[in-house]
Amino acid sequence: MREFSFSYKLDEINRAAEQLSRHAGGTKIWLFIGDMGAGKTTLIKAISQALGGGGDFSSPTYSIANEYSMNNGKGSIFHLDLYRLRSIEEAWDIGIEDYLLGGDYCFVEWPQLIMPLLKEGEFITINITSISENERKITIFI
Ligand SMILES: Nc1ncnc2c1ncn2[C@@H]1O[C@H](COP(=O)(O)OP(=O)(O)O)[C@@H](O)[C@H]1O
Ligand SMILES: [Mg+2]
Repeated sequence: MREFSFSYKLDEINRAAEQLSRHAGGTKIWLFIGDMGAGKTTLIKAISQALGGGGDFSSPTYSIANEYSMNNGKGSIFHLDLYRLRSIEEAWDIGIEDYLLGGDYCFVEWPQLIMPLLKEGEFITINITSISENERKITIFI
């Protein structure tokens, strides 16, 4: 497994998103690990935009699954926030397998519950930590 790190401020987030998609290669399942407020959702929205995903990136309402269609006709991006799931059964109920096996991008916040469903090599992991109020550090494991 390879890893590398870099830090970014909010006004550098688009560059951070592009850098991450370069390093991800063709991997479609990206897991985002970090505390509440670390910047997972903000980064996922920037990456989705970098990949050409259209749609409502500013929806204030919580939902477990958001879909952003890619305007270049290359499929969808699914943004899953599993924070409120309590058990693997609840993950089955939302159709987790369809998301993971569908071949579209899956960006997953709070993925711990579904780790047993994933095989090595089919996902990358991105850790986000807060270095200061206006800077975050990313470590990506490929
Ligand atoms: N690189 C960054 N530098 C400074 N602030 C950031 C950065 N990334 C995100 N933030 C801010 O952190 C806050 C929480 O972000 P959010 O993406 O909702 O976190 P999470 O999804 O991890 O709970 C937001 O106010 C966001 O603007
Ligand atoms: Mg979030």
